[in-house]
Amino acid sequence: MRVLGIETSCDETAIAIYDTERGLLANQIHSQTEVHARFGGVVPELAARDHVRKLPILLRAALTEAQISRGEIDAIGYTQGPGLQGALMTGAAFAKGLSLALNCPALGVHHLEGHVLAPFLMQPRPTYPFLALLVSGGHTQLIGVERLGGYTLLGESIDDAVGEAFDKSAKLMGLGYPGGAALSALAQQGRTDAVHFTRPMVDRPGLDLSFSGLKTAVSLAVAHGYPHADVAASFEQAVIDTLVIKIKRALEQTGYTQLVLAGGVAANQPLRARLKILMEARGGTVFYPPPILCTDNAAMIALVAAMRLGQGERDATMGFEVFPRWPLSAMAVPN
Ligand code: KG4
Ligand code: ZN
Repeated sequence: MRVLGIETSCDETAIAIYDTERGLLANQIHSQTEVHARFGGVVPELAARDHVRKLPILLRAALTEAQISRGEIDAIGYTQGPGLQGALMTGAAFAKGLSLALNCPALGVHHLEGHVLAPFLMQPRPTYPFLALLVSGGHTQLIGVERLGGYTLLGESIDDAVGEAFDKSAKLMGLGYPGGAALSALAQQGRTDAVHFTRPMVDRPGLDLSFSGLKTAVSLAVAHGYPHADVAASFEQAVIDTLVIKIKRALEQTGYTQLVLAGGVAANQPLRARLKILMEARGGTVFYPPPILCTDNAAMIALVAAMRLGQGERDATMGFEVFPRWPLSAMAVPN
């Protein structure tokens, strides 16, 4: 089965083609960074308008990359939520129109399920059950993944997401938006022990996290005149230490031996390296997709659609609805 995936939940327009036999055939991504940069954040209306402009162009590019014609698409998967309402609607409308034109089924996909299952696009693949650390611009969650559709939220950030803390800290240092990757690059030139940041919430039991205090501490350190590279390195280290402590706790609580690192911040190299060491020391395994499949993409959407379509799921009607707020725990597979 060949599935066309469509992703428009935020500021990346993406179209991918996933073949259940041959794997990923096309992975087209257009980032809107330039559209939003001068506003210091994503402007929802501009995001939606740009998706409308780019979707047909990306569709043609994806078909060319995969070297197939439209008629060879068997099904369509699109991001139905969570995300920006207007942005989600552009992708859903495009998917439904295409599904009608091509006379093939469509299925709405949960964006976070896409992130969590993205490692299944690669070899070797994880096996259920596993622990997933989802770290993106909007979410920071520890999730027990028991099977397709079997997700248990073990802990989450009670305030800022990790990506948000990276982006806000980067902004304080004048690194632009979204500044997560730029902050990490700057951190390479700094000392991780130059500024003392407390590791939030680690002295409390449980698996919840908090990152807004860290962001405030960064603004104080910048105001005190610490070199930005040192602040960046110390901040990144504090984030990683905190995540490692909670991951260890979650592994002990669940008894799981595999860890999946997912979401945009999973592209962070020091975090990847540290979690690899952690899991190897414990005799377990860490799985993370290449950075291009960690940040928003349509390959993960096509993959999840293929998994669920394979179990007989499809949208009940041609009409469409999107869910800007949508908990992952709502994603049970109907039986
Ligand atoms: O998953 P994603 O592409 O979009 C959301 O669904 O949120 O994640 C984007 C987030 C942004 O906050 C961005 O700054 C962060 O991922 N990010 C990074 C890195 N690359 C992207 N954060 C730290 N280090 C990186 N290398
Ligand atoms: Zn995302």
